[in-house]
Amino acid sequence: MIIEAHELRKTFVSGRGKGNEVEAVRGIDLEVADGEVFAVLGPNGAGKTTTVRMLATFTPPTSGRALVNGFDIVKQADKVRASIGYVSQSGGVDDLAPAIENLMLAGRIAGMSKAQAKARAEELMEIFALGEIGNRPARTLSGGQKRRFAVAIGLVAAPPLIFLDEPTTGLDPQNRANLWEEVRKLRAQGTSVLLTTHYLDEADALCDRLVIVDHGRIVAEGTPEALKKEVAGDVVTVKVADRIEQARALLSAEPYVREVVQEDDLLRAYLDDGERGLPSVLRALDRDGLVIQSITLSRATLDDVFLKHTGRSLRDAA
Ligand SMILES: Nc1ncnc2c1ncn2[C@@H]1O[C@H](COP(=O)(O)OP(=O)(O)OP(=O)(O)O)[C@@H](O)[C@H]1O
Ligand SMILES: [Mg+2]
Repeated sequence: MIIEAHELRKTFVSGRGKGNEVEAVRGIDLEVADGEVFAVLGPNGAGKTTTVRMLATFTPPTSGRALVNGFDIVKQADKVRASIGYVSQSGGVDDLAPAIENLMLAGRIAGMSKAQAKARAEELMEIFALGEIGNRPARTLSGGQKRRFAVAIGLVAAPPLIFLDEPTTGLDPQNRANLWEEVRKLRAQGTSVLLTTHYLDEADALCDRLVIVDHGRIVAEGTPEALKKEVAGDVVTVKVADRIEQARALLSAEPYVREVVQEDDLLRAYLDDGERGLPSVLRALDRDGLVIQSITLSRATLDDVFLKHTGRSLRDAA
């Protein structure tokens, strides 16, 4: 295991008094295997950044313990730091220095000689197509260029584990795809990656395993496939004109419906086989004179997993 965390908690206290406590992380257990791409998926404020910052030793946990690369995050923080790459959510580069100098500096901090740092910086400039912009002050780069450049900085020392906190937020689709490609290359080289995201498709496409976090707790854990399977194959989303409670009870009683979840004025019925079940759903509602305003059939996504565990949609949770 490259990461083993047990009951990690973080409570921030801002100002005096009890009302000012924020329980950002409320007991998180994680096990990340060597070479795995692991995602922490959750809405804004779920505690993703706080979790990553604890594991990367930038903020001490209030309680709990964790080993990263076999080192204790509290007692051996310097050893942890020397063995990881970390790309913060906001970037963290020297705005006035040219991009290439920032990269070289990161190499020097990691203990490389000047020549090694230069060679590694040039290699990364190539990988991330930063060639033409490498000599400009970092502050003149566009948001997406900065993001790519920040990720490059995290990779300077070729660490066995890299933390990427929302690496693709703010990137255009092309650069997002490029970054996914880089993460896949890292995995192919045997590097472990822990990334946070609030994009369902990103977690689905990129990670071997993930946890879904909400309000500082893990609500689900597994491979994307297993998690989606758990909520069943297909989802029929129905909007009835009125009597939603009656419609809900009715659908719940149908034998081919595994579960019905209500989300505001929508009902989501989970079915093993949506194509065969859809006509039966229509008939059942019609039989009781319920008026259907809309009905759609879709495959279960990680959003359905989130919805099942939290009662709300990740898309709206922010
Ligand atoms: N230094 C701090 N002091 C007080 N509260 C904090 C501090 N840092 C984070 N929090 C609070 O802890 C909670 C979790 O924050 P965190 O940044 O970990 O969430 P996140 O999942 O990374 O969200 P986002 O997707 O918006 O980046 C939030 O309610 C946040 O306001
Ligand atoms: Mg964050």
